Amino acid sequence: MYRSLVTGCGAYLPSQIVTNAELAKRIDTTDEWIRQRTGIRQRHIAADGEFTSDLGSAAAREAMAQAGVKPADIDLIICATSTPDETFPATATRIQTRLGVGQGAAFDVQAVCSGFVYGMAVADNFVRVGQAKTVLVIGAETFSRILDWEDRSTCVLFGDGAGAVVLQATNGVEKTNGAKARGVLSTHLYADGTHHDALYVDGGPSSTKTVGHLRMEGKEVYRHAVVRMAEAIDAALDANGLTPGDVDWLVPHQANIRIIESMGRRLNLPGDRVVVTVDRHANTSAASIPLALSEAVGDGRIQQGDLVLMEAMGGGFTWGSALVRW
Ligand code: UT7
Repeated sequence: MYRSLVTGCGAYLPSQIVTNAELAKRIDTTDEWIRQRTGIRQRHIAADGEFTSDLGSAAAREAMAQAGVKPADIDLIICATSTPDETFPATATRIQTRLGVGQGAAFDVQAVCSGFVYGMAVADNFVRVGQAKTVLVIGAETFSRILDWEDRSTCVLFGDGAGAVVLQATNGVEKTNGAKARGVLSTHLYADGTHHDALYVDGGPSSTKTVGHLRMEGKEVYRHAVVRMAEAIDAALDANGLTPGDVDWLVPHQANIRIIESMGRRLNLPGDRVVVTVDRHANTSAASIPLALSEAVGDGRIQQGDLVLMEAMGGGFTWGSALVRW
């Protein structure tokens, strides 16, 4: 069996920043409400004509440069997104062309805010069985396009952005094994479709022939998020014979600072070991974890050998975790 190492990270945020105060001029909300309930101060919004594939391509280029891989090396591109450029083809194929990748497979995964964790799991399994050697896993979203800008309970919560990682297969000859070895140690994925109505988009090609808008029962999602993500964290640690004290960095999905802090407390991690971007990015759905990873790797917080725990929960419901020895 091969293992997948994360060898590069990249990020892209659209240049336009919208602060809470600016939103408060357009809808019945306040900076104070948004900050107190969510921790969000601002979000990035894609420009007209700037698509999910543009954001994803920019993040992927940065990840490839950091990993030192060329377009000819990539044999699989997975794009996690719920806001594809078009109903089909997959946004991953648009990104493939932009990057000048002329071989391999490319497809999207759709697990909303858990999309990046789902994408990592799929990529890791391709690598483990030897079907791919160099994989791009991208989380890219333009949620601003599916928000109801009249609905203050949802439109203040989300932003646009993209993050990406390069996963590369080790040569299969491991010097260290178990949880001490570098690479993806495990992924755990879950779904429960009975909670559809708590978080969904009220449109689609087969149902309404429209794109639709995001609808969320915030409290209901919150209640499930803290329980489900805690279970996913426990599953990751148990599967590797590790304890919360072994975790160096928590890189959680960035939806709400109160949820993030409660996960950090559960692991007994000091606040500075939890990577937080929700204040500046808001909730970028599938892009939030790779954006946070890219920031913490870029500024030198996450170092080779560190144990990095990622967890997410989103529409479906879907949820899961990924544990990586950097
Ligand atoms: O990424 C997928 C996962 N998503 C999440 O994890 C989101 C989870 N949920 C949450 O983060 C929180 O539930 C929210 C931030 C969405 C909402 O916070 P809350 O503390 O659960 O507030 P609430 O929905 O119970 O609303 C409280 C009040 C309501 O007023 P009343 O009924 O108490 O008079 C709302 O009408 O706040 C009002 N409200 C607002 N007020 C000012 C709702 N949105 C706003 C707003 N500005 N933007």
